[in-house]
Amino acid sequence: MSETGATPRVYARIAGTGSYLPANVVTNDDLSKVVDTSDEWIASRTGIRQRHVAAEGETTGDLAYHASVRALEAAGVEASELDLIVLGTTTPDLVFPSTACLLQHRLGANGCGAFDVNAACSGFVYALSVADKFIRTGAARTVLVVGAETLTRMVDWSDRATCVLFGDGAGAVVLKADTETGILSTHLHADGGKKELLWNPVGVSVGFKEQEKNAGVRIHMTGNEVFKHAVKALDSVVEETLAENGLDRRAIDWLIPHQANLRIIEATAKRLDLPMDRVVVTVDRHGNTSSGSVPLALDEAVRSGRVERGQLLLLEAFGGGFTWGSALLRY
Ligand SMILES: CC(C)(COP(=O)(O)OP(=O)(O)OC[C@H]1O[C@@H](n2cnc3c(N)ncnc32)[C@H](O)[C@@H]1OP(=O)(O)O)[C@@H](O)C(=O)NCCC(=O)NCCS
Repeated sequence: MSETGATPRVYARIAGTGSYLPANVVTNDDLSKVVDTSDEWIASRTGIRQRHVAAEGETTGDLAYHASVRALEAAGVEASELDLIVLGTTTPDLVFPSTACLLQHRLGANGCGAFDVNAACSGFVYALSVADKFIRTGAARTVLVVGAETLTRMVDWSDRATCVLFGDGAGAVVLKADTETGILSTHLHADGGKKELLWNPVGVSVGFKEQEKNAGVRIHMTGNEVFKHAVKALDSVVEETLAENGLDRRAIDWLIPHQANLRIIEATAKRLDLPMDRVVVTVDRHGNTSSGSVPLALDEAVRSGRVERGQLLLLEAFGGGFTWGSALLRY
């Protein structure tokens, strides 16, 4: 109870962060030996210089596990204390059980709720929003939120328009119920009408066609259209986030964006009037790790000491679906 006798408001606060990247690094020069491209083209159009690629047999669940162990350590939380695991991925290890269930068992957190969220590259922001609601309502007190992907498993390595963009990786945060301010608001959106601009049309229920069993599991993308939709959607969601919290754009200490393309990130930063030294950029070294990208960037910024306790962070993401969203939080 507070001094006034009212029950204090409960926030979901980040208690610790962690991330993990597979060891194998593929540079733009490596790719230029496989497809007709160049470091100059990739770097100037996307900002990407290299990406990490999971080894054969290394799964999304493996990356999620290493990131989660680091987040739990940083938070000083035992796996057995978790009430819930929410994992954003579009590249699960299996159709089922969910990667969250596989992770739960490996961590030794058996018994708590665990499920995956598929919102493509917005998966972590969606998962964070769900976890925030569980904590705010009192349904959970300690939640592990993960974004983990092995997107390179569905990349067509002969398609230069897509294979240069993606990488593998995972990030995680431990959220704890706290009376100190944490997540202030989250904002989720989707438009299923644009699915064919960015999709992988292979699935269980639509049935596998014979040719897809070998070659069809791949990302299809109309890059320049996706680019335009991403910039517009992110502009709108950052405006919505500031308006809902009655904040001026100058209040934001750090923008922690989805890492798809440096030019998309720069457009959002411009909209916020933020200099690029207050934007966390990892796309140059990680490429687009889908759900992994925002928590990877967050963890890197926390561990390097750039992001400090008390600062105001704006997280945002855009991905296939289309899906997009944001989270405003005090770290
Ligand atoms: C993919 C993307 C980098 C392409 O950049 P772009 O400036 O839009 O380029 P375009 O697709 O218009 O292609 C321009 C030319 O480059 C060529 N090109 C495409 N990929 C290339 C590559 N890797 N190397 C060299 N040339 C390439 C195209 O074939 C095209 O050639 P043409 O003019 O002879 O037809 C950019 O559109 C993008 O980043 N879009 C967003 C993608 C994204 O973020 N997806 C994930 C969202 S979560």
